[in-house]
Amino acid sequence: MRFFSALLVTVATALVVRGAATLNATEAAISSSLSVSLNKGNNYGAPIPPWKSGCSPGWYYGDHPDYLQISLPLLKDSLICWLLDLLQLGFLCPQPPYHQSPPSNNDGYKLVFYNYSGAVEGDDYLTYGLVDTVGECMDMCDSVDGCNFINPYHDVNGKNGSPLLTCSLFSKCHGIEDAINYGGQTQPDGSIDYITDSAGYCKD
Ligand SMILES: *[C@@H]1O[C@H](CO)[C@@H](O)[C@H](O)[C@H]1NC(C)=O
Ligand SMILES: *[C@@H]1O[C@H](CO)[C@@H](O)[C@H](O)[C@H]1NC(C)=O
Repeated sequence: MRFFSALLVTVATALVVRGAATLNATEAAISSSLSVSLNKGNNYGAPIPPWKSGCSPGWYYGDHPDYLQISLPLLKDSLICWLLDLLQLGFLCPQPPYHQSPPSNNDGYKLVFYNYSGAVEGDDYLTYGLVDTVGECMDMCDSVDGCNFINPYHDVNGKNGSPLLTCSLFSKCHGIEDAINYGGQTQPDGSIDYITDSAGYCKD
């Protein structure tokens, strides 16, 4: 009961803040589920960091939702983006100007390492999700409160590895010495995962 009251307060607060917006029943339901699934306290849907077993990405920002093997909030969906804007959870859909891929030198991020076989571990972990490109991972970092570092990489798991990139976000910068997650987790199909194309970019 307390759980639902908290949701109603969140929605009501958003309504007061935005004044003009009134949600219909569908919008209110999606809004409630977003405020539960994408909040700071649960690392925006990914409370178990990507180097621990049982982890699962919290969101998808890209153009190929057909590749997803689980259902995730889609951050290119206009209704979801509108509601996230309303809810003020510290997590928004990316806004233009968007980053290019491959990234250019003057896009606000500095390359720290690239093409490595380890992914970053750190206490300052914020959230992780899936994207199509490194530029989209930068876009996400710009849309999450306190984000200063991105670690995009391919987590090669299962027999038909997903082409999507894992996008792991942190509040502090990290060097290659923190990229100590080399995979090694047994997957549901019995294969062992490994990391390729891992890169680190720190906000300028
Ligand atoms: C509620 O809003 C959604 C999206 O904004 C819209 O697609 C839907 O038709 C609306 N439903 C009703 C019953 O008005
Ligand atoms: C990336 O690393 C792999 C494995 O070490 C290597 O085979 C490949 O040539 C590297 N690619 C680039 C662009 O450096």
